[in-house]
Amino acid sequence: MTPASASLLDSLRAALGTSNVLTDPDLRAGHEVDWTGRWRGEALAVVRPASVDQVATVLRACRSARVAVIPQGGNTGLVGGSVPRAAAPQPQLILSTFHLRDLEPVDPIAGEVTVGAGVTLAALQAHARAAGFGFGVDLGARDSATIGGMIATNAGGIHVLRHGPMRAQLVGIEAVLADGSVVRRLPGMVKDNTGYHLPSLLAGSEGTLAVITRARIRLVPLLERRAVALLALPGVAEAVAVAGELRQVLPSLAAAELFFDDGLALVLRHGGGQPPFRQAHPAYLLIEVEGSVDPTELLAAALASMPLIADAVLASDASGRARLWALRERHTEAINAEGIPHKLDVGLPVRSLPEFVDRVRAVVQAVAPGARTYLYGHVCEGNLHIGIIGPSPDDESVDDAVLRLTIEMGGTVSAEHGIGAAKVRWLEADRGAADVAAMRAIKRALDPDWILNPGVLFADES
Ligand code: FAD
Ligand code: MLT
Ligand code: ZN
Repeated sequence: MTPASASLLDSLRAALGTSNVLTDPDLRAGHEVDWTGRWRGEALAVVRPASVDQVATVLRACRSARVAVIPQGGNTGLVGGSVPRAAAPQPQLILSTFHLRDLEPVDPIAGEVTVGAGVTLAALQAHARAAGFGFGVDLGARDSATIGGMIATNAGGIHVLRHGPMRAQLVGIEAVLADGSVVRRLPGMVKDNTGYHLPSLLAGSEGTLAVITRARIRLVPLLERRAVALLALPGVAEAVAVAGELRQVLPSLAAAELFFDDGLALVLRHGGGQPPFRQAHPAYLLIEVEGSVDPTELLAAALASMPLIADAVLASDASGRARLWALRERHTEAINAEGIPHKLDVGLPVRSLPEFVDRVRAVVQAVAPGARTYLYGHVCEGNLHIGIIGPSPDDESVDDAVLRLTIEMGGTVSAEHGIGAAKVRWLEADRGAADVAAMRAIKRALDPDWILNPGVLFADES
């Protein structure tokens, strides 16, 4: 360690307390590798500020020492943005939001709440529920993913069709810029056209523009009566058609998730449990509807009118619903249990999904014969997750081939996980040179020394 780095750590110990500057390799280890095991790098330390002022102190000190800061929440990100880069030109420090966990009382009149960036999604959901509200975003990593990380990635998840992604839940934000200055607008006014909307800019900024410390969040009505159905379908085209029709006839449709038989078999192999149907089917759609009264009959009636559905299982009780949801949500860990996957997260115009599903499997086989391709995702947004097992993690030829196909078909290379360090090479191919130049100009203006999450979104400073 250089004398400059040692002196930085001394000053941070003085400001945050020794127990909040973790330098022991065993304590750093879990923070230095991502959830998939594909991305890892070494940090000087993991620091855990407990207030916005301490975050500002960390950023000012790192800026003058030219040390990169990697903001980290629950470390469930899937694009390598929450851990240090493996071959970074400068020393790196992880700034964990672990202590920023304030949950202010819910404002029942506004239907809003202000929370610390380190609050987990599950904690926010429980806090909102206790006050008679729901929260509009939900995803499988709910027990670890934090509100700050979800804003920074503009997380999507399973209820986007009903409430939109994380950006749509944001009413206000508090964040610290690279020079230690604090931007704060938390009064909770949904109608607020006074200048640039910084919450929208920071949503999806992936830790490259500021460290988010608090957020004012919009809540949604709590509809606790739910029914879930797993539908067996002859193919993707039918799944897309049924999801579209259900969206029209069931205004309380909350989720529509697509998966396939190979993924289902993998989930059953790793997680145990019985197949939901007597025979295998080419495609499955998991549907959830919600209401203040039991929506099971409404759902059953809608399904009965749809001849494309080959078979269906319904559940309205909590354990039955959880069993069906597990078949979809456990895809991520089941695929990871097979090895380090190539994880892609593309978005297509919904009507192109059937063609894409056909072509993507062939594209993968052409580049990596024998590779296994697992597909699943959020059908109403045309958001398909692609987990490829086989090619070594460093061989990006399958990623290239799949993302080329995605762009050719008018899609996006990241629907909800972000660009991170994983997809930097594809940002310009997707967004175009003018968009990327505008993004770089914003980055340079807010972080001229390029200390916030370098290597994420952009490969270099130029
Ligand atoms: P981290 O992983 O810690 O960080 C993610 C990014 O945000 C990094 O670039 C980091 O630098 C930045 N960041 C974190 N906190 C801050 C902050 N306070 N200020 C500024 N930048 C910050 N994602 C979806 O969109 N939809 C899903 O359905 C979904 N399901 C998942 C299921 C599983 C099992 C897993 C493991 C992941 C899933 N994800 C999903 C991905 C992940 O949970 C989300 O990206 C989530 O938003 C990350 O939150 P986090 O707190 O773990 O952030
Ligand atoms: C999901 O929808 O399950 C997540 O986004 C995680 C994944 O892509 O595996
Ligand atoms: Zn997803």
